[in-house]
Amino acid sequence: MLAAALWLSNQLTRPPSAQAAAGEKVVGGPYAVNVGPRSATVMWVVQTGEASLGTEPGQADKTAPALRAEKTTFVGLKRGITYYYQAFPGEAGKGSFRTPPADASRFQFVVYGDTRTRHDVHRTVIAGILKYANPDFVMHTGDLVANGDDASLWPIFFDAERELLRKTAFFPSLGNHERNARNYFDLLDAKPYYSFDWGSAHFIVIDSDIANARATKAEQDSFWQEETHWLEEDLRGSQKADFRFLFAHHPPMTAVKRRQGDNPHMTALEPMFEKYKVSAGFFGHDHNYQHYVKNGVHYFITGGGGAPLYDVDVPPPGITQKVASTENFVVVEVDGKKARVEAKTPDGQLLDTTELGQ
Ligand SMILES: [Fe+2]
Repeated sequence: MLAAALWLSNQLTRPPSAQAAAGEKVVGGPYAVNVGPRSATVMWVVQTGEASLGTEPGQADKTAPALRAEKTTFVGLKRGITYYYQAFPGEAGKGSFRTPPADASRFQFVVYGDTRTRHDVHRTVIAGILKYANPDFVMHTGDLVANGDDASLWPIFFDAERELLRKTAFFPSLGNHERNARNYFDLLDAKPYYSFDWGSAHFIVIDSDIANARATKAEQDSFWQEETHWLEEDLRGSQKADFRFLFAHHPPMTAVKRRQGDNPHMTALEPMFEKYKVSAGFFGHDHNYQHYVKNGVHYFITGGGGAPLYDVDVPPPGITQKVASTENFVVVEVDGKKARVEAKTPDGQLLDTTELGQ
């Protein structure tokens, strides 16, 4: 009786905005982004409502959620520490992440991508990462969802990723299927291109999707010029790192015959990767696993995160190490000046293994 009276009094005194908030639900997260040595942003996604659309009055052919990204940034953090957070009430609101170490101590990251379209396969790949890896952070090579503008796809993405993202830090790359959508930037607090250090390694993420980056050819050219200028400066400034790892959605080369020569802007960057000693580039876009070594630079394509698989029908001669048309993720264990790269299928089979470093 007392409880009922309290409830009633709450309803009467609560302002209208808080009453609307009662219908909200969390549909993504929690997850940690932009994790650095001193700060990290914890995020989650709230569905505030749902709208419907049809071709007749009162007829709903489509529904779409209204989403709101919640975020808060913690500052004053220390290096090499695991932090446990509570993003919203209850067990579901708990998560953790680790800040980068101060020294060259051992760490692990996982790379995967192209998680769109086949949601059940996406779940299988995430389950494989959780079972066969224990990453300090994860790198996504792009095409998180089939259409970045479609709000209904993001809760599906975050639902599949939930158990992984709540225990690690997430670093995304922009794929062509994101369509440069505001959702990508808002929900992940992301920038088109960025870099960071983790232990003895330097990480660079670039936006290779120039077609969606700007509206006209002239604007696209100027965007790419600006970005690659930044890339060269960033590479020049990171020559003391033990490793330089580069991430982009579009690969410079491919074994997928019908796509060979598709990304000349990326192929044109190869001399820059060689000049500034990029240890390895990681790409997506092709839904399979590919590994090349060209003039001392390793190129990995890991786009087997759920999207329909592509054949690896014409491996480029002379540089091919391994190609396989299968779902996969790549585990990189960095230990000082050495790194071990293992590509795995979701059921833990080893596809390929490589040692990097001096
Ligand atoms: Fe793609």
